Amino acid sequence: MAGLFDPLRLGAFEIPNRIIMAPLTRARAGREALPNELMAAYYAQRSTAGLITSEATGISREGLGWPGAPGLWNDNQVEAWKRVTEAVHKHGGRIVAQLWHMGRLVHPNVSGMEPVSSSATTAPDYAHTWEGKIPYVEARAATKHDIARIVGDYAKAARNAIAAGFDGVQVHSANGYLVDQFLRDGANFRTDEYGGSIDNRMRLMTEVLEAVGAEIGMERVAIRFSPNIHSQGVDEASPVLLFKAVAKRLEELKVPWIEMREPRQKTSTGALPTEPVSPVMREHYSGRIFINADSNWDDARQLVEEGAIDGVSIGRHFISNPDLVRRIALDAPLNEGDSSTFYSGGAQGYVDYPTLDEAKAA
Ligand SMILES: Cc1cc2nc3c(=O)[nH]c(=O)nc-3n(C[C@H](O)[C@H](O)[C@H](O)COP(=O)(O)O)c2cc1C
Repeated sequence: MAGLFDPLRLGAFEIPNRIIMAPLTRARAGREALPNELMAAYYAQRSTAGLITSEATGISREGLGWPGAPGLWNDNQVEAWKRVTEAVHKHGGRIVAQLWHMGRLVHPNVSGMEPVSSSATTAPDYAHTWEGKIPYVEARAATKHDIARIVGDYAKAARNAIAAGFDGVQVHSANGYLVDQFLRDGANFRTDEYGGSIDNRMRLMTEVLEAVGAEIGMERVAIRFSPNIHSQGVDEASPVLLFKAVAKRLEELKVPWIEMREPRQKTSTGALPTEPVSPVMREHYSGRIFINADSNWDDARQLVEEGAIDGVSIGRHFISNPDLVRRIALDAPLNEGDSSTFYSGGAQGYVDYPTLDEAKAA
């Protein structure tokens, strides 16, 4: 029986335990989308995670709409990320970069450009911008020329990630961002070969994975989905059918591991999940499967022990518990997180959560 504390091979490298840190946007990189010393300290503190997934990181100016989130499209960003990856490696950890194009969720106020998506649609609710929350604007439908350029941007960002010292990349195909806007039928109304049938809707995801894999080797490439919840206006009429096809495609492409945000009950943000799709994906995909179950990692732990999945991914508890792995091992109490500092910038609520040892010494 596999347990959370057993090592596991993920393509090119091995992780010492199966508790991975979920990607978490923390908005500390400023207007130039540049990582800094504070971010290096934050990630280094969390390097006992089996694997760290970085916060979502823009592949291009066009694709990044979150104020203060980092990027990986220019040489300054590559240089700046080096201090983060070096700090994590020095502390014995591993880190992959989550590659992000936000599609219609980019507000021109942040990117300075018109947003693109699968189709001409407007996301619901409000965009976080430098001037606070404002309504989204309508995106234009990407042309085939745009799609080819965007696929190239993913490949370049992956190359940059390796140059910056990351151990690999995770393509962000969850939470209603660009790849998800093509994948799920709630946002893709195209009538060309990128829309309509499941095969067509998977085309952008496939092209991105192929391009990134050709650039850095598929053994360093992962992908994240949020298949059973409605995300920022993006949903799917037949999630089981779609993700069964996705699993077969990932198997053909030899993607070594995937992460699924797949809650089993109403999430803390009120999203109502539909049927989980990881069981059917497991039948068609032989790579590793990590589940992010909205804090319900007790259930996830049981799924690992039953062999239904290979590991768990945890978000918010990693924000407030830098030594989360040790706390889980000891069944020790957890620090409470403060959501008012999730995106507030600065050190407070970022690098000042105590470890068990620090709490004892205080
Ligand atoms: C502050 C914050 C930032 C997040 N940023 C990202 C992100 O950059 N990329 C992503 O895929 N998901 C992101 N998420 C979603 C988390 O990865 C995770 O799926 C969610 O928090 C549920 O897991 P948890 O209950 O373990 O926190 C974010 C969530 C929070 C609370």
